[in-house]
Amino acid sequence: MTTRINPSILAADFANLEHELGRISSADLVHVDIMDNHFVPNLTFGLPMVERLAQVSPVPLDVHLMIDDPDRWAPGYAEAGAASVTFHVEAAADPVRLARRLREIGARAGLALKPGTEVEPWLDLLGEFDQVLVMTVEPGFGGQSFMPETMPKLRRTAEAVRAAGLDVWLQVDGGITVDTIGIAAEAGADTFVAGSAVFRGQPAEQIAALRAAVAG
Ligand code: DX5
Ligand code: ZN
Repeated sequence: MTTRINPSILAADFANLEHELGRISSADLVHVDIMDNHFVPNLTFGLPMVERLAQVSPVPLDVHLMIDDPDRWAPGYAEAGAASVTFHVEAAADPVRLARRLREIGARAGLALKPGTEVEPWLDLLGEFDQVLVMTVEPGFGGQSFMPETMPKLRRTAEAVRAAGLDVWLQVDGGITVDTIGIAAEAGADTFVAGSAVFRGQPAEQIAALRAAVAG
């Protein structure tokens, strides 16, 4: 199984982002959390920042939109050069149409689900998406504790992907550490977002430790 480690720059030093990106060159993608203070009660940054990050990052960008009206805003992030653009199903008016638009632009299309959102309505439509993000905390803040009660949903999604013979990446985001990553991997995740676990120490070492924890 391919394991991807995507550090979240939400936990990085915002005054030194280019330098911080240089410290995670052993990562697979860099996770970029966009919050609008409406869909979630927190605010980060937007398109102009992502345009610059895409120019200087040594690894591709994995954009996570925690915003209202992604139907309107998500294509701009794909045009800015993000490798993947993930939007929340709770916020999108027409997720399938938006995913098709993102793919047309050349990005991977991701569907994100808050902990309380069911995946069942989407299980027959998984082929429309390149990745599904099962949130393992309530979106909005880094440094929260992993919610194991989201694992049955991840497991059902993984089973549906397998049964349909699809290549849909299964991502988890929130509270991923060396202690929790194995739980998510066992339930079927292959793509792991980690913010505080990576940036609280030496990022290259933390990334290696997360990889080792999945392998073990
Ligand atoms: C939370 C964000 C996460 C956050 C994860 O809403 O979507 O990407 O950065 O942070 P940690 O790994 O610290 O839980
Ligand atoms: Zn995120």
